[in-house]
Amino acid sequence: MVPDTGVTLRQFPHKAVESYGEVEFARLDRKLAMFHALSSEDKQLLPEFEPRMSAIAECIEVNVTLLSRIADSATSISSSSDLSVPQENGHPTPNSPSLPSEQTTDRAAEEKQLLSSEIRRGFTLLARDWSAVGEQQRDACYKPLVEAVDSAYKEASQTNQSLSRDAFRVLVPGAGAGRLPWELVRRGFAVEGCESSFTALLVGNYALNSVSGEAASTIYPFVHEQSNVASQKAATRPVSVPDVNPKDIPNVADFAMRAGNFVHAYEGHDNAWDAVVSCLAFDLGDAVIEHVRRVSQVIKPGGMWAFIGPMPCFDGGQMEGIHLSVEEFLGIVRRCGFTMVKMEEVEVSHTADAESLRSIQLRCPFVVAVKERPS
Ligand SMILES: C[S@@+](CC[C@H](N)C(=O)[O-])C[C@H]1O[C@@H](n2cnc3c(N)ncnc32)[C@H](O)[C@@H]1O
Repeated sequence: MVPDTGVTLRQFPHKAVESYGEVEFARLDRKLAMFHALSSEDKQLLPEFEPRMSAIAECIEVNVTLLSRIADSATSISSSSDLSVPQENGHPTPNSPSLPSEQTTDRAAEEKQLLSSEIRRGFTLLARDWSAVGEQQRDACYKPLVEAVDSAYKEASQTNQSLSRDAFRVLVPGAGAGRLPWELVRRGFAVEGCESSFTALLVGNYALNSVSGEAASTIYPFVHEQSNVASQKAATRPVSVPDVNPKDIPNVADFAMRAGNFVHAYEGHDNAWDAVVSCLAFDLGDAVIEHVRRVSQVIKPGGMWAFIGPMPCFDGGQMEGIHLSVEEFLGIVRRCGFTMVKMEEVEVSHTADAESLRSIQLRCPFVVAVKERPS
């Protein structure tokens, strides 16, 4: 899907980088202007402020340089018609009747804000999936899921002793920046990740395909947070990516990332996967039923679905929709043909900055479920 910003998918990476630099530097300029408007007595009480703004500007400069490389590497992402970047409702498309110039300017400014916030999200995804600062988050989420696949494989290979790890097919919908599928490939499984966000694919593609060796790049993912900041050091701390060599996977690995909406992309792929693994992939909104139904269709009878989630809704229930409870969600899972063999509550976070004054923890079920065989 072409984002409502009016930017085509082909244009998106470079437009987003351009907007990011413009928006972030303009934000710093506004802050500096506000600082300069203070009385000289007040300014004297804040000697750290201007150096903090300069340090942030330097970090953004480095981010922009890396982003250009990331954008250049984006040509290898297939342009599925099903890709998305988050949209703001009611944006006119490029084909809308032309607007008076003031509105056009507002629209252009909003478009840049939206693109820039996508890029900021991209940095936090890179830090979560491909840096040492994301390790704790990943351990809490990915470790139990990977262990569940290991156990499912061991069980399956007891009944079918010729089943090799590379013939055990695992699907990861909502794969984000690609670390979870990569961890599974590293353990020898045949894996396909599916992701509908162009931003997640963009940064994941960079880590998986454009980088060889550890710590190839430095990013500053925390410079964008302007409130809840403990210190300049916390905001401007550098993060090396990746924390592993992404090429460190078996030579003949069967590994793919599919760009698109999982529900549409796997229509007709019935009984094709030994396991589905999803981490915070689906939320409790309206689409959840079709997601669960599709998972149930694509797994082989006797196959496993291990998931952490669903992702709690962040709109606080403000948006229209049916807003299911976790209990209702788990009921759908059972009624779509799964027997739960493990269920516990886990506390996880997603892209939260551990050094921020405000950090969001999520309480979610961790479930291992088996698709019932036809009786
Ligand atoms: C909260 S993120 C989690 C990403 C990753 N699993 C992780 O743990 O970091 C949820 C991801 O699922 C993706 N997603 C949601 N619905 C999807 C769908 N129907 N098809 C493909 N991707 C989807 C979103 O684009 C988003 O990147």
